[in-house]
Amino acid sequence: MDTAANGCPWVANLASEAPAAPLAAPRRTDGPDPREVREFFEQYKAYVDMDEDAYGARIAEVAAEIQATGTYTHTTDELTVGAKLAWYNHSRCVGKLYWRSLTVRDCRDVTTPEGIRDECFEHQRVVHNGGRIKPTITIFAPDAPGKPAARLRNGQIVAYAGYKNEDGTVLGDGGAVETTELAQSCGWDPEHKTPFDVLPLIVETPDGELSAHSVPDDVVWEIALEHPTLTDFNALGLKWYGFPSIANKGMSIGGITYPTSPFTGWYLAPELSARDFSDTYRYNLLPEIAESFGIDTSDRRSLWQDRAVIELTTAVLHSYDSAGMRMDDHYTATEKFQKWVDAEARRGRTVDADWSWMIPPISASLTPVFHTEYQNEYKLPNFVQVPRTALVEDAEPEIETAAVCPFTGAAASV
Ligand code: ARG
Repeated sequence: MDTAANGCPWVANLASEAPAAPLAAPRRTDGPDPREVREFFEQYKAYVDMDEDAYGARIAEVAAEIQATGTYTHTTDELTVGAKLAWYNHSRCVGKLYWRSLTVRDCRDVTTPEGIRDECFEHQRVVHNGGRIKPTITIFAPDAPGKPAARLRNGQIVAYAGYKNEDGTVLGDGGAVETTELAQSCGWDPEHKTPFDVLPLIVETPDGELSAHSVPDDVVWEIALEHPTLTDFNALGLKWYGFPSIANKGMSIGGITYPTSPFTGWYLAPELSARDFSDTYRYNLLPEIAESFGIDTSDRRSLWQDRAVIELTTAVLHSYDSAGMRMDDHYTATEKFQKWVDAEARRGRTVDADWSWMIPPISASLTPVFHTEYQNEYKLPNFVQVPRTALVEDAEPEIETAAVCPFTGAAASV
């Protein structure tokens, strides 16, 4: 499994090996699922406080478009609200309390690999926002019946390569071996390989054509990791990029699948310290890190792993703070989440959450989320796993249906 590519989760944690978010609904041969269309417009109406006349006119328009073309096109406002609702509904994100402030970039008309590449880089600049990090999603063209749209094949817009050595060890990120080999099959091959080579962006067009595009340094915002007091650590030369932009998840809104919709929020320190650098199938660096801190690794019961991962978290927070790059610690993030969940409950709303993705991978019981049970229902709109372009045609069960009007149930004329 390509673990670097492992989805939304604001916090990657123990659950990262669990089955990922459900697949987008099986592709219908003739247009969007009428129930999803209907339910989305009901939610949209409530969200924007649409009056009955405007609502009636819009659903008549959507019904007519589906009858005529087999699908329909969201307005930019519908897309924006739909993306926000997808975030609100996503149960593996502890940062979703900010859902209303999501910046939505409508790039549905950008379809060439170069155009997609440029908008991904622009996405990075919008997100960066002088280090203040603006949670942002950039949405490219949706899949249409019989017409899949382009995909990104990377786990994140910026991520490091992992080169598999003959002896089975990996130089770089053990979670990125698959993407790295794909990049190499596209002709990408840095002459001097390091543990921190930024992978190219790999775009797959609907006809299955792959292209690799190198990522410019100025959209990476790399941060050298330094410990405030245990300075021998600094010689390890560890670094990480400024923020994660998830690139291989899709979004499902009102029966329409947007397979390419990279999104970003700021990091939580333990994502790096307790997962990216520590997982044995990722950088697997805890022993070296412990030694740099002068921690004796010979006895498991000295709890050297725990001590090393905590000092590493200190280094990560210190380095991002010094660089002026927004990053949360696990206490602040979970406390804010829990307060928001409680406030939502007072407003009569239940926030759906997957407990195993809410708890941080270190010191879980010291945070409020550990002590709370959550409802975890799957609601739409939501983020979804999308099948790769080339597989869309053969791998998915097709549901034989005639396009029907989502509001009246009448069969489509085409
Ligand atoms: N856990 C992933 C990583 O370490 C990033 C997942 C998204 N996280 C976030 N804070 N937005 O790169």
